[in-house]
Amino acid sequence: MTSHASNKLDGKVAIVTGGASGIGEETAHRLASHGAYVVIADIQDEKGRDLVASIGSHRCTYVHCDVTDERQVKSLVESTLRSSGHLDILFSNAGVANNIEQDILEFDIPAFESLFAVNVRGMAACVKHAAGAMVAGGVKGSIICTASLAASIGSEKHVDYVMSKHAVLGLARSASKQLGAYGIRVNCVSPGTIATPLLRGALGVSKEEGERMFESSSCLKGVLKAKHVADAVVFLASEEAEFINGHNLAVDGGWNDGLSQGI
Ligand SMILES: NC(=O)c1ccc[n+]([C@@H]2O[C@H](COP(=O)([O-])OP(=O)(O)OC[C@H]3O[C@@H](n4cnc5c(N)ncnc54)[C@H](O)[C@@H]3O)[C@@H](O)[C@H]2O)c1
Repeated sequence: MTSHASNKLDGKVAIVTGGASGIGEETAHRLASHGAYVVIADIQDEKGRDLVASIGSHRCTYVHCDVTDERQVKSLVESTLRSSGHLDILFSNAGVANNIEQDILEFDIPAFESLFAVNVRGMAACVKHAAGAMVAGGVKGSIICTASLAASIGSEKHVDYVMSKHAVLGLARSASKQLGAYGIRVNCVSPGTIATPLLRGALGVSKEEGERMFESSSCLKGVLKAKHVADAVVFLASEEAEFINGHNLAVDGGWNDGLSQGI
C-alpha cells in the first residue's frame, strides 16, 4: 500500500488499458491501493504478470488485450463481468507514438494509420464496450481517457500523434454528452511530458535525459511523473468528482510553451 491508500474505491472494479507500463502501471497501483479491483490489460504479457505479482493477485489480474482488435476489447469487458460481476471504472490509456518524425510534407500514411488504430480506434472500442456494460448493468461508472497536452496544441514533428489526441478529446466530450443520461461520467486526463518508455522511444532519449529535457516544460519547479497523472485518475474515478463530466484535466504543472522541448 502506498501512503496515499484509502478505501474510497472499495468494491469498485476497474479496467486499465496500457496498464503494464508507465502511466497505466502507476495508475493500476494507485487504483488498487484505494480499494479497487484492477484488471490490467495490455499486450506486454510478462510486464503485466510481473505487475500483478507486485500489486498482489487478490487485488488485480492481467488480461492480454490488443485494443486495435475490437473482439479482444469485447472479450476483455465480458471476462471482467464474468469474474467480477460489474465494471465501474475504465481507464482507457493504451497509446503509442511513432519513433519517426511525422511532418506534413513527408507524412507517412501507413505509420499514421497504425498509430490511429491504437490511439483512436482502440480508444473508441474500449469506451464503447465499457459504456455498454455500464449501461446494461445500471452502473453509474466513470470513464477516463488519456488524451495529452498534444490534444490542445499543434506540432511540426508529431502531426499524427497530435491528431490522435485531438480525436481522443472529441471522443470523450461526445461520449460524455450521451452517457450523462445514464449517470456515467466521461473525462480526459492530459499529461504533459513524462519520460515513460513511449516518449523515450519517440525521442530516442534515456529516462534521465528525458527528465532533464522536460524539466523546463512545466511552469512548476520539479519533474512531472506518472504518479501525478495516476492521482488525477483516482480523483476522476471517485465520488469526489461526482459532477465532473466532459472535462479535460491537464496534469502538466502549467505548460510552459515558451521553453518546452520535444513536442
Ligand atoms: N509519456 C508522456 O509524456 C505522455 C504525455 C501525454 C499523454 N501520454 C499518453 O499516456 C498513455 C500512456 O503512455 P505512457 O507514457 O505511460 O507510455 P508507455 O509506453 O509506458 O505505456 C503505454 C502502454 O500501452 C500499451 N499498448 C500499446 N499498444 C497497445 C495495444 N495495441 N493494446 C493494448 N495496449 C497497448 C503498451 O504496451 C504500454 O504498456 C498513452 O495514451 C500516451 O499517449 C503520455
